[in-house]
Amino acid sequence: MELFFCYFFLGFFLLVLLLLQILFYKHRSLFSSTNLPPGKTGWPLVGETLEFLSTGWKGHPEKFVFDRMVKYSQECFKTSILGEPVAYFCGPTGNKFLFSNENKLVTTWWPEAVNKVFPSSLQTNSREESTKMRKLLPQFLKAEALQRYVGIMDTIAQRHFASGWENKDDVIVFPLAKRYTFWLACHIFLSVEDPTHVARFADPFRLLVSGVISIPVNFPGTPFNKAIKAAEFIRKELILIINQRKIDLADNKATPTQDILSHMLTKTDENGKHMNEMDIADKILGLLIGGHDTASIVITFIVKYLAELPHVYNAVYEEQMEIAKSKTAGELLTWEDMQKMKYSWNVACEVMRLIPPLQGAFREAMADFKYAGFNIPKGWKLYWSAYSTHRNPQYFTEPDKFDPSRFERSGPAPYTYVPFGGGPRMCPGKEYARLEILAFMHNLVKRYKFEKIILDEKIIANPFPKPEKGLPIRLIPHNVKV
Ligand code: HEM
Repeated sequence: MELFFCYFFLGFFLLVLLLLQILFYKHRSLFSSTNLPPGKTGWPLVGETLEFLSTGWKGHPEKFVFDRMVKYSQECFKTSILGEPVAYFCGPTGNKFLFSNENKLVTTWWPEAVNKVFPSSLQTNSREESTKMRKLLPQFLKAEALQRYVGIMDTIAQRHFASGWENKDDVIVFPLAKRYTFWLACHIFLSVEDPTHVARFADPFRLLVSGVISIPVNFPGTPFNKAIKAAEFIRKELILIINQRKIDLADNKATPTQDILSHMLTKTDENGKHMNEMDIADKILGLLIGGHDTASIVITFIVKYLAELPHVYNAVYEEQMEIAKSKTAGELLTWEDMQKMKYSWNVACEVMRLIPPLQGAFREAMADFKYAGFNIPKGWKLYWSAYSTHRNPQYFTEPDKFDPSRFERSGPAPYTYVPFGGGPRMCPGKEYARLEILAFMHNLVKRYKFEKIILDEKIIANPFPKPEKGLPIRLIPHNVKV
């Protein structure tokens, strides 16, 4: 018996050794081409993923890229993230290269975890899914549609402040900002208006967002596992909404153009086929994530900077009060009002420069090519990073200083300011985001001044940035009601 155990453990040990050797060999072979960009590739599977994520957890996500730009190259360095070989493109030239070579030399790529959480992208591929999504969106994000949304945004903002802020001495901004942008997205994309219905989604969405860019280990309790479960829950809820909408469309209680959900249900592809429910649910899920999380981050950090910088608060207040005073009682904000909020938008832009909600995004090399004198092999993943320019003194003098005047006149140099990406994949929700952020700022400063409760609250990025405790603030209501 003892001999049996000895052989068993020896066999097991040799198997583990063999697996490790295969992993090491595979990892080394990923980086065996000649003249690759300089950089460190770390351990098999893990690579530098922990360094990449942990700089964010420690509150300095920009450190990952800056340390390596100093150590290896200002233009491009290699690393290994989420088990993939990655070339990190830096500076405006790197941004320009990736943005202008979309579908020529590079194509969209999402980490494995994203594909598993959104199974519809596995049936085809993320490039096709992204193209499908982009075709669906213009009708809902074009200027005429956006003009209609301004009044809705103002109404929801007013209801949001009435239900979440009124009669409170202190509030925690981050969850409230999420509630506002999510409520708006549910209303505009799905015509779901009941706040309690909306609230049912909120928690699973939080789990989904924090697990979607994580190491794809599907064990109970891992962020990835929680994200998959949360996505399943939300998908089931969405399917209920979709089925009800089908009935309403058949009974003429809903119209084919009322929102993006009706549009997805009634639109056919070039072969006359409708999208299936699962596909629609995944698309809506992606849109709800893209459409609410990023903007709520910007709103939260706007409140932080307004609380810290009274001169910035005062200038925003003046601009917004001029608009408020020009309106009759109960009159909603209009598209024209939004165009007048120039300083307020510059403040939002400066917030996105210092704390970009998305640090960057991945692409995949479609062929072998050369960049900055280095070989980039086909299949390698590529990454553009907003931090490589946003916090770089070469492009923004005194980069840590909050200065909205950077966005006056012609603004930052091309490809240096990229919170919404660039090229054909640039965020299609940019204008929508601008409007919802401005509607929030208008309603906020009209009602309150505020101060931070935790003066030195840390900012963490996991991978999306947020104040560690959610930004608790003390409210100081204005005496005069407008
Ligand atoms: C301040 C708010 C926002 C920021 C900072 C932001 C940022 C970004 C960035 C950087 C990308 C490009 C990623 C890449 O290069 O691959 C992107 C893509 C995208 N965004 Fe936004 N976004 C915001 C709001 C929105 C909103 C409100 C919507 C929807 C209404 C939206 C929908 C999308 C979609 C669907 C894509 C994917 C486009 C594609 O794959 O071609 N985003 N966003």
